Amino acid sequence: MKRQPLRLAIIEATRILERAGVASPRTDAELIASHVLGVERSRLPLVPLVDQPVVEAIGQLVHQRAKRVPLQHLTGWAPMGRITVDVGAGVFVPRPETELLLEWGLSVIEGREYPVVVDLCTGSGALALAVAHERPDAVVYAVDIDPQALAWARHNAEARAAAGDTAIRLYSGDIADGSMFAELDGLVDLVLCNPPYVPPSTEVPPEVADFDPPQAVFAQEGGLEVIRYAVAAGARLLKPTGGLAIEHDDTHGTVVPELIAARRVLTDVRCHPDLTGRPRFTTARRG
Ligand SMILES: C[S@@+](CC[C@H](N)C(=O)[O-])C[C@H]1O[C@@H](n2cnc3c(N)ncnc32)[C@H](O)[C@@H]1O
Repeated sequence: MKRQPLRLAIIEATRILERAGVASPRTDAELIASHVLGVERSRLPLVPLVDQPVVEAIGQLVHQRAKRVPLQHLTGWAPMGRITVDVGAGVFVPRPETELLLEWGLSVIEGREYPVVVDLCTGSGALALAVAHERPDAVVYAVDIDPQALAWARHNAEARAAAGDTAIRLYSGDIADGSMFAELDGLVDLVLCNPPYVPPSTEVPPEVADFDPPQAVFAQEGGLEVIRYAVAAGARLLKPTGGLAIEHDDTHGTVVPELIAARRVLTDVRCHPDLTGRPRFTTARRG
């Protein structure tokens, strides 16, 4: 059977994805090839020639990606910290910028033994599971309102526990409920929250509009409704010196720090940029 240069298949895939308006066509083309071949992206140059069935398999996935199906729905997974979680229909795909929230959170609990951590709006469970992976001694709670998201989180939690990570405590609930985790009031070292925060009128790319659940993306009150609940929960749950981190829209770099600072118990309020330099998450400490 005639073999073909992988390089040419990737060039062709990049061209198709570029025409389809995909934001990072070369990266996606390489990640699709890497997925099909089962080799890391950095090792693709070590694969000069591929069989026709491989070219066809790459072509099929590229065809779907060109229809703006998210890359992670095609590969079935997304990274968070040093783990990956499975994703697909009905759950929000974890984003690279949320890794910064994770890093900040891990720095807060560094040096603390048996830290208690709460992940509000857990979705696939990515943040909670990434914390549990890094800190086997942590007691990690996670909550989401959406049964479909929780099914993914449960699936991912079982997979991580089977891989040897400490089990997380997964709950179904609405973080608007002021009695959520009431038994933890004043006892928590770290509250993380990547809530829905996009203002409802915002135009979003097809990958988001057609595949992320709307209740995971958009929030009422101009994108601030669920953030308000998270701030209230953080102020209530944290122990003195505990840390709160909330991801938010890049247009909310002033209003979210103000919302947090309005809670007298929350101090040292700081807004942090994402990987593109836009204001993306705000942190605070319980004084
Ligand atoms: C942006 S997704 C984030 C998922 C995950 N934390 C991540 O970073 O990938 C927001 C999640 O919040 C959940 N959610 C929305 N409103 C909620 C509420 N009032 N209480 C609990 N969870 C909520 C959605 O179901 C969705 O899974």
